[in-house]
Amino acid sequence: YNIFCMNANTVKIAPSLLSADFGRLKEEISQIENAGADLLHLDVMDGHFVPNLTFGMPVIQAIKKYSKLPLDVHLMVTNPDFYIDHLANIGVDYISFHVETEYHINRLLNKIKEKNIKSGIVLNPATNWNQIEYVADIMDFILLMTVNPGFGGQSFILNCLEKIRIISKYKTIRKLNFEIEVDGGVTDQNASNLINAGADILVAGSYIFNSNNYAQQIRSLKLCSQNCLTD
Ligand code: DX5
Ligand code: ZN
Repeated sequence: YNIFCMNANTVKIAPSLLSADFGRLKEEISQIENAGADLLHLDVMDGHFVPNLTFGMPVIQAIKKYSKLPLDVHLMVTNPDFYIDHLANIGVDYISFHVETEYHINRLLNKIKEKNIKSGIVLNPATNWNQIEYVADIMDFILLMTVNPGFGGQSFILNCLEKIRIISKYKTIRKLNFEIEVDGGVTDQNASNLINAGADILVAGSYIFNSNNYAQQIRSLKLCSQNCLTD
């Protein structure tokens, strides 16, 4: 018979604000909150690490005033360390930085954790996960890019599925409990596979915000966790 996988019914949905209407940010945030989002994913881009600019500390500070959702800050910047104190003062809940941007991974993870913020490392699609094996017991979560970072609305890179499986297996063998978050091209077409592979948190930007019924889109992703089976 069917054995449901560990993440069935518990997957968290983190809408990415990048695809929202920035001219109506306050309304968009309250709509997404009422639609059943678990986290609010915030993409900070600096035009150096990625070929795009988004928003920074003042905007996140403003968002914090209008949202009760846990804030999940994804730093796509060349100097992630510069922003940790400010983000801690704002009161964000998750911070992740790219392994490709930081020499002192262990130190930065600990700096974030000391502020009682969940600390995570992001891997680009081409980055081997072995690079962070020796901090796997320190980090609270790993954010796996399933598109090349910089833009919303790109298509999911299929090879990344195998990476999720490998990390998930490692996690089980070593009895670690960091969460696995997946970001890029997530839709109801691939969500079951992602959850099955071990994803705990799904980020979705265009899939949610390019529709006119946010609640329905979030529900459709959560529903994918009910069809999720173990191998
Ligand atoms: C891309 C960002 C993503 C992006 C996802 O660099 O990290 O969070 O908003 O957008 P979709 O879900 O449209 O691929
Ligand atoms: Zn992101």
